[in-house]
Amino acid sequence: MSEPKKLFIKTYGCQMNVYDSERMSEALGGQGYVETKTPDDADMILLNTCHIREKAAEKVYSELGRFKGLKAEKPDLKIGVAGCVAQAEGEEIMRRQPLVDLVVGPQSYHRLPEMEAKTRAGEKALDTDFPEEDKFEKLKNRPKAKRGPTAFLTVQEGCDKFCAFCVVPYTRGAEVSRPADRIIREAHDLVERGVREITLLGQNVNAYHGAGPDGDMTLAGLIWELNKVDGLERIRFTTSHPNDMADDLIEAHGTCDKLMPYLHLPVQSGSDRILKRMNRSHTAESYLRLIERIRAARPDIVMSGDFIVGFPEETEEDFQATMDLVEEVKYGYAYSFKYSTRPGTPAAERAQVDPAEADDRLQHLQALITRHQREIQDGMVGRTVRVLFEKPGRLPGQMVGKSEYLHSVHVKGPEIAVGDLKEVRITESGANSLAGELL
Ligand code: 5AD
Ligand code: SF4
Repeated sequence: MSEPKKLFIKTYGCQMNVYDSERMSEALGGQGYVETKTPDDADMILLNTCHIREKAAEKVYSELGRFKGLKAEKPDLKIGVAGCVAQAEGEEIMRRQPLVDLVVGPQSYHRLPEMEAKTRAGEKALDTDFPEEDKFEKLKNRPKAKRGPTAFLTVQEGCDKFCAFCVVPYTRGAEVSRPADRIIREAHDLVERGVREITLLGQNVNAYHGAGPDGDMTLAGLIWELNKVDGLERIRFTTSHPNDMADDLIEAHGTCDKLMPYLHLPVQSGSDRILKRMNRSHTAESYLRLIERIRAARPDIVMSGDFIVGFPEETEEDFQATMDLVEEVKYGYAYSFKYSTRPGTPAAERAQVDPAEADDRLQHLQALITRHQREIQDGMVGRTVRVLFEKPGRLPGQMVGKSEYLHSVHVKGPEIAVGDLKEVRITESGANSLAGELL
């Protein structure tokens, strides 16, 4: 038998890219590749790129430039670019960086094996189509290897919302939901391989409307089906849009025992004027009322969100409205970003906020978020949580896992194994994690 070829994948960006990288690795596994942790001994390098913020494309070009030496030493080395930068730049990547052999957009990963073969024949391979077929169905030839206790599972992709700042509708395409039976089959398969917690992924996950046995299923319907899977202990989902928070999904947060009390629900801004310019189609008030209803269903839920500061035309007053909203919601986690221009999106054409001003706002917002985050985390001390243990901690004999609320929890105990789900009393709150002892 010939030596397996080595594949190095570098993943940027969101959890969906992490999931996609796993699928690409499995697809190329069928071509005789095994993954390696360094580009130095690779036969193929794939950059799975993200285009959401900052100078994404420029970073990819500079990263590619660094492979020049490797390629000179090893002419058989194939270099590919996948993900949203591949989708956005297309052929331009090969033009600007001739050492690239392969460019594949997120909707074409199932075509990787053929594309790889093409590169082996000395040709360039490019595919940034939005084909009709279900790529994940075609990517199914996965080996039955054991896995860690947590996994991502993509249920929905793309977005029809067209927020004025966002490239996702262009790079990931229109909203498409996978049929429920395929997702459930994949969940069973993950559980057989040791997974106990699944995070359902989608750019607009709560807009899920995949085909079920009796017509389209909602995300809540899908979650209830997954709730029946023996051996699966926890269900999470991300990322949601406020306008798709349907009644059955809100209710599931109160009644579905495997659905975890954590919800990522980006609002982006607290100013109605800016929300309108962002094309968000909700107001600060409607968002706050929505959170009230979610908290009525599940009072201990930990909320998380995303914010953009310095969106074009944002005034000090608009920013203050964002601070007020954050003050009212009190997020357990929140991700805030300085607006970054994405060519081709409507907001790119508008009057930009002074960058120094935007930096200043970002700092203030992050300080407030951090304070709330810390308060909520500190509030866990003395409480009993259930921890799903994921890996050994830094100290000897220590294990780390996640609570229901997604806090990292460190516990000492030689009797704990990866994949155990145990009751833990929280004794301490540190900078970024909790510590506790087994009950
Ligand atoms: N600039 C800054 N942040 C952005 N996001 C999306 N597009 C941009 C942009 N152009 C943020 C949003 C989104 C998160 C994934 O990234 O907050 O929810
Ligand atoms: Fe982008 Fe999310 Fe808006 Fe869709 S809903 S356009 S993915 S920010």
